[in-house]
Amino acid sequence: MKKFFIQTFGCQMNVYDGQRIAAMLTARGMQETHDAADADVIILNTCAVRAKATDKVFSALGRIRRAKKPDALMGIVGCVAREAGADAFRRIPELNFVLGPQSYHKLPEILNNPDTKLLNIDLGGLEKFDEMPQMDASPAVAYIPIQEGCNHCCTYCIVPYTRGRELSRAPADIMADVRHAAQTGAIEICFLGQNVNGYKYIDQDGATHRLSELIAQAAKISAVKRIRFTSSYPTEMTDDLIDMFRTEPKLLPFLNMPIQSGSADVLTRMNRPYSLELYIDIVDKLKAARPDIQISSDFIVGFPGETDADFEKTMDIAQRVKYINSYSFKYSPRPHTAAALMPDQIADNIKAARLAALDARLNELQREFNTSCVGRTMSCLCEGADKTGQNLVYRTPYMQQCIVERTNADAPQLAEIKITAANKASLRGEFAD
Ligand code: SAH
Ligand code: F3S
Repeated sequence: MKKFFIQTFGCQMNVYDGQRIAAMLTARGMQETHDAADADVIILNTCAVRAKATDKVFSALGRIRRAKKPDALMGIVGCVAREAGADAFRRIPELNFVLGPQSYHKLPEILNNPDTKLLNIDLGGLEKFDEMPQMDASPAVAYIPIQEGCNHCCTYCIVPYTRGRELSRAPADIMADVRHAAQTGAIEICFLGQNVNGYKYIDQDGATHRLSELIAQAAKISAVKRIRFTSSYPTEMTDDLIDMFRTEPKLLPFLNMPIQSGSADVLTRMNRPYSLELYIDIVDKLKAARPDIQISSDFIVGFPGETDADFEKTMDIAQRVKYINSYSFKYSPRPHTAAALMPDQIADNIKAARLAALDARLNELQREFNTSCVGRTMSCLCEGADKTGQNLVYRTPYMQQCIVERTNADAPQLAEIKITAANKASLRGEFAD
């Protein structure tokens, strides 16, 4: 039996793409291996969002090309494929295929003609979703892409180049995926998109379908107990969507809504044209709809021209919104982006110092929130056992990890857990009676 190896880097969309590719190869009678040296087909499913992510892919390729079987097919799919294009073949001559994020369904072409080289980095639209087989069994959390690409064109971001302009899938196709996931084991549905709350589908009759409608429909499926969505653009949090937090209890009280910076000047240069007042206003509306909601953010420090005063404003906004579960990054200049050409690029030692300061604040906020959860009982979803096998790992509605001692053989997948202790990274809990 032929074997394939797939390694996924980057975002949830990539994790989803990787699952679909694995399902396709399995349907062709291949078996997955976790050892590249043992594989007949080697696929790196890649992320290009920061230079470090791209470098990681090329160093992994450098290692694998020496270890692989001589006749194994090796290739990259995803955003680095689109970023590097034909240049990838020059850097790594052993590559057999380079397929962009919207053309990985062309993989059979190279499997059927292994003596050729295949380059396809077209922005081909959404056909990959229809051409790939479904997974047989869904994990407890099913990621369902509803739109791909982004029209926002933040000046630092390579995603509009690698994933293209926004395209939204038809509601009927999405709901078919949700039902399939629910029938094959999913308890939580996470709707995915680079600009997920920009989801907009206009049908033949001219009617517009939005994310709020998808949430309402998914909530009607009884096997679906939890719903969330990621990643959201602040000013696309429309009132119909905010209202879902008021009316739909299955929608988790947790939202990733990146602000990126607390400085109005930096936001302008990032081409994120919202005022801080507007952002805070949206947070307040969300809290009014769902008093227990918590918000997470992505932050970029050291954007070109960022002053100490700008950075202090980022520190202030983090404290003001009391973000939990956030991500922070040093600005990384990327090809195909405007910010890479801006003057006043910031030295790495300054970026590193700002990142350390912001991380310390974000960790403190996370610890405060985790501590505030002690004594509460929350409905949590089981992710499996920890390394020792003696404990189960649950996810709270706020995506915190909660470790629970395994008290009987078949613990429920969705359980009421009483939080008993907290630290910065995780919680401990016990089954509530
Ligand atoms: N909405 C998108 C975000 C893509 S990138 C999605 O979820 O698919 C994820 C995060 O990476 C961004 O929110 C931003 O904080 C960070 N990022 C993007 N480009 C970056 C760059 N050039 N340097 C540093 N961080 C970056
Ligand atoms: Fe990137 Fe900005 Fe879109 S971060 S994915 S261009 S909203």
